[in-house]
Amino acid sequence: MVNIPELVQQTNGFSDYNPMQQLVLQAPWDGKNMVVASPTASGKTIIAELTGLNSILNKRKKAMYTCPLRALANEHYTDFQDKYSKQQNIRMAVATGDMDSSSKYLSQYDFVFTTYEKLNSLLVHRADWLQQLGTLIIDEVHELDSDRGPTLEMIITKLRILNPKLQIIALSATIPNSDELAAWLQAELIQSNYRPVPLKEGVHYESTIEFKDNAREKTREDDPIEAMLSNTLEKKKQALVFANTRPRAESLAKQSAAVVQKFLTIEDKKELVKIAKKIENALESPTEQCKKLSALVQNGAAFHHAGLVQTQRSLIENGFRAGAIKTISATPTLAAGVNLPSFRVIITSLHRFDFGGMVPIPIREYRQMAGRAGRPKYDSAGESIVLCKNELEASAVMEEYIRGEMEPVSSQVGREPILRMHLLGLIASRFIFDTQSMDDFFSKTLYAFQYKNTDNLFRMLRGLVKELSELGFIEGEENRFWTTKIGSRVAELYLDPLSAADLIAALKKMDLNHFGALFALVDTTEARPYLNVKTKDEALVWEELQSRWAELPITSSEAMFTDTQLVQKFQTAKFLDAWTNETPEQQLLDDFNIQPGIIRAKLQIVDWLAYSAVELAPLVGAQQHTGLLSRMRKRLSSGIKEELVLLCELRGIGRVRARRLFNSGIKTVADVKQASVENLAKIIGTAVAITVKKQLGAEIEKGAKKKIDAQLKEQKTLFDHS
Ligand SMILES: Nc1ncnc2c1ncn2[C@@H]1O[C@H](COP(=O)(O)OP(=O)(O)OP(=O)(O)O)[C@@H](O)[C@H]1O
Ligand SMILES: [Mg+2]
Repeated sequence: MVNIPELVQQTNGFSDYNPMQQLVLQAPWDGKNMVVASPTASGKTIIAELTGLNSILNKRKKAMYTCPLRALANEHYTDFQDKYSKQQNIRMAVATGDMDSSSKYLSQYDFVFTTYEKLNSLLVHRADWLQQLGTLIIDEVHELDSDRGPTLEMIITKLRILNPKLQIIALSATIPNSDELAAWLQAELIQSNYRPVPLKEGVHYESTIEFKDNAREKTREDDPIEAMLSNTLEKKKQALVFANTRPRAESLAKQSAAVVQKFLTIEDKKELVKIAKKIENALESPTEQCKKLSALVQNGAAFHHAGLVQTQRSLIENGFRAGAIKTISATPTLAAGVNLPSFRVIITSLHRFDFGGMVPIPIREYRQMAGRAGRPKYDSAGESIVLCKNELEASAVMEEYIRGEMEPVSSQVGREPILRMHLLGLIASRFIFDTQSMDDFFSKTLYAFQYKNTDNLFRMLRGLVKELSELGFIEGEENRFWTTKIGSRVAELYLDPLSAADLIAALKKMDLNHFGALFALVDTTEARPYLNVKTKDEALVWEELQSRWAELPITSSEAMFTDTQLVQKFQTAKFLDAWTNETPEQQLLDDFNIQPGIIRAKLQIVDWLAYSAVELAPLVGAQQHTGLLSRMRKRLSSGIKEELVLLCELRGIGRVRARRLFNSGIKTVADVKQASVENLAKIIGTAVAITVKKQLGAEIEKGAKKKIDAQLKEQKTLFDHS
C-alpha cells in the first residue's frame, strides 16, 4: 500500500497538513463519501489529490474530478499531471468537449478531469467504464443551486444507482446546509472555519474603508477606485476588481491603467510589452478590442471577461500571476476556484442584470468573489472591499452580505424546461422505463430529500412523458416506455426536446436555403441569448424580416405575432450570415454590437446545433439537406464563403489569409502547393507561408525565414523608391 498522505505532502512540499485537512485525515477518508465544507483557499484541492490517488494507487480503481468550468478542469488537470503523472505512472486526461460521444478512449485513463456537462453526456452515452470509477470528486458542489444544478443532481443520482460502491467527495466553500447535503449523500461531514490566510472583509465609502471588526482605514479623497488601487499598489500588492458587466469591466480597466502605470518598474514594462504584443495578435487580424486591451496591458492593467478569446484570457491570468500585470477588472468569470495573487479584491457591485432588470446577487456569489483575495501561495493576508455610495448602503452591505448568513443550497430539479431534457436522457439511457422506475429515480434526488412532498414533481413528470410521446421522442405506455430512434438521438445530442422538435420541423421543409437553415439553428433554446437590436434599428430590421419571411423555415404563421423574440432571432441569423459571407470581424463587432469571445462562444453552440441537424436529417427523411448543412458547418467554423472552405483546412489559414490567397489567384490547395514560398510569403507573411508549405510536405531549409524577410524588405524599398 502506498502511504498517500505522505506522498501528497512530500510532492507538494508542505510542512504540515492544515487543520481542515487533518480533520479529513482523521475521518474514514479512504472509503466513505465525504462532504467538505470549508472556506475559500483552505486547500480543498488537496482532498481531491488524497482521495483520487488513493483510489488509483491503492484500490486500483479510476478517479474522476468534475467541476463547473472548463478553465478550472484544465488548471487542476495540468497541476495534477505535473505532480503525479510520470512520477506515479498515472495516466491522466481532461475531457470537456465533444458532447456526442461515449469517449471510449477515456477508459484507458486512470484519472479523468471533466466538466459536469461532459460527465452527464458520458452517462447519456452509457459510457460503461464509468462503472469502474472508484472515486468521484465534485468541486464547487454548491452549483447544485444554479442553472446547471439539475445536471449535477442527475449525475449524482445516476452514478449512485449505476455504481453503488462509488466514493463521492463533494467540496465547497459556500454551502451552509452541508449537513443536509451530507445526509442525502450518506456522507461523512467535514466542516471547518479554517482559512490559512486571514481575509478581512469590508466596505468602502466616503474615503474610508470599514472592516467587519469595525477597524477603519482612510483612503485618498479622489475617486474610490483610484484611491483603493493606489492604496494597494503602494503596499506593492495586486488587485482584482469585479464588475457586473463587460463594458464596466473595460472602463474600470481604463481607469486603473492611469493609476497603475505610475507604479511600473523598467522590468515590468519590458514584460508588459511582450504580453501586450501577444494579446494584440491573438486573432488573425486584430480588432479594436484587441488593440484596446493590448494598450491597457502595456500600462499594467487588464480586463477579463467572456468577450475575450481563450488565449487572451490565459495571457492575462499568467501575466497577473507573474506580477507584471498589476490589476485585472473582471466579470465573475474569475470568481470561483481560481488561485491568483490578489491581495485585494474590490467588488464594485452586488447586483447583476437578470430577468430584464438589476437583481441582487446571492450572498454565496459574493463570498466566492471575496474568496479570491489572500491565497496562500501568494499572500499572507487578504482583503475584500465592496464599494458603496454612502454610509447607508455600506451598513446594508455589511449586515446583509458581510455579516449575513449564506442562503442554503436547494435543489433546482423542479424546473420544467430542464427537467424535460433530463427526463428524455434518463429514458434513453434506460434509467427510467415505466412510471414506477421514474418515481423511484426521482425519489432518490436531492429534491425529494429536501422537499419531502414530491406530488408536484411526479405530476409534472407524468405531463412531460405525455408531451415527449406527442413529440414522437418516446413510445409505449405507462407500464413500459422507451425512446424512439429519433428520441434517443435527440437525447444523445443533448438538445432541449422542444428545440429539437422545431429543428426537425424546419428540416422537413423542402426549400431550405443557407439563411433559412441558419435561422432554424438560431430558433432554439440553446442559441439563447439572441443578439439585441438597437431601438433605433428595430423598425428597419422588422421591415427586412417581413420582406424575407418566405425564406424562414417557420411553420406557424402566427409566430409573427406571438414570438416576442422574433426580431432578435432574425438579427442573430443575420449576424451568422454576415460572418459566413466574410464581413470583416471589426465591422461585425460594430454592426452587431458583439465581441470576439462572444462570437466564438456563439459559433461553438451554433456548430453544435448544425452538427445535430446533420445527424437528425437522415432520421426524419430530410437527407436532401445534409450537404447544405455540412457545408454550412465549415463556413461557420471559419467565417467564410463556400469557395474558401478547402483553403481554410490548412493550419494557419483563416478567413483573412484564405481570402488574400484566393484573390491573388491561389484558389486551391494544389495552387498553394505549386506556389513558391517567397510568393506565398508576400501574401500571407513569411512565418505562415513556411508553416503551410511544411504541412504540404515541402522541405524548407534552415534560415529561410531570415532570407525571405530580407528579400521582401529589399523589394519593398525598391518599390517605395520607384
Ligand atoms: N497544507 C498546506 N500547506 C500549505 N499550503 C497549502 C496546504 N494545502 C493547500 N495549500 C495551498 O493553498 C492554496 C489554495 O488551495 P485550494 O485552491 O485547494 O483552495 P480551495 O479550498 O479549493 O479554495 P476555493 O474554495 O476558493 O476553491 C493552494 O495554492 C495550495 O497549494
Ligand atoms: Mg477549490
